[in-house]
Amino acid sequence: MIKIAPSILSADFSKLGDQILKTKEAGAEYLHIDVMDGIFVPNISFGAPVYKCIRKMTDQFFDVHLMIVDPLRYIDAFAAAGADGITIHHEACDNRIETLQYIRSKGIKAAVSIKPKTDPQVLKPYLPFIDMILIMSVEPGFGGQSFIPTAIDSVKAAKKLVDESGFDIDIEVDGGLSAKNVDLVTSVGANVIVAGSAVFGAPDMGEAIKEIRENGDKTYCTKL
Ligand code: DX5
Ligand code: ZN
Repeated sequence: MIKIAPSILSADFSKLGDQILKTKEAGAEYLHIDVMDGIFVPNISFGAPVYKCIRKMTDQFFDVHLMIVDPLRYIDAFAAAGADGITIHHEACDNRIETLQYIRSKGIKAAVSIKPKTDPQVLKPYLPFIDMILIMSVEPGFGGQSFIPTAIDSVKAAKKLVDESGFDIDIEVDGGLSAKNVDLVTSVGANVIVAGSAVFGAPDMGEAIKEIRENGDKTYCTKL
């Protein structure tokens, strides 16, 4: 069964609490929390104080996606604010394995992400140190962009690396996903689906989550 991770970047921040409770009621296991620094990506979002406030409202898994340079500086703050999983970018720093180990030392699941043009083979050295791989299917920085189809090959390659390694590692995909195209990535092994505008921009968020789950579960393939 797949997991759904609504990205609060697309939420209406004047009603953030209500909207999060709706995603919880609709059964979204994760909340995807996009942290942007205006340097690694050309946009600035929000930091730990924002999601610390919502931590007390929900027991959903806080899936914190760090689009920031030199993330090691902030792991303590993100841990204290209630992250359950922290994703860093392969492209964002040099001390990546040290950072992943530090994340795990805090009892938090560690993940590494690659941008759409990054060769998935770079993921290999991380496998002993991670719980999840995040394949970006848009250039990171903004919600509401179109899915980049080359991400399908990246998911396939990541799935192959994970299967060959024997480690238990989830594969998450982020960007431009909805009930209409989720099958493109679940059918090649993705099991955690981020959806921002497709959830928070829908007239009925519960229905949107239900449709993504149905189409994702129906097509989810663990063996390629
Ligand atoms: C983009 C973010 C995504 C984004 C997804 O940099 O990492 O999580 O919010 O939004 P949609 O689903 O609208 O592409
Ligand atoms: Zn994200």
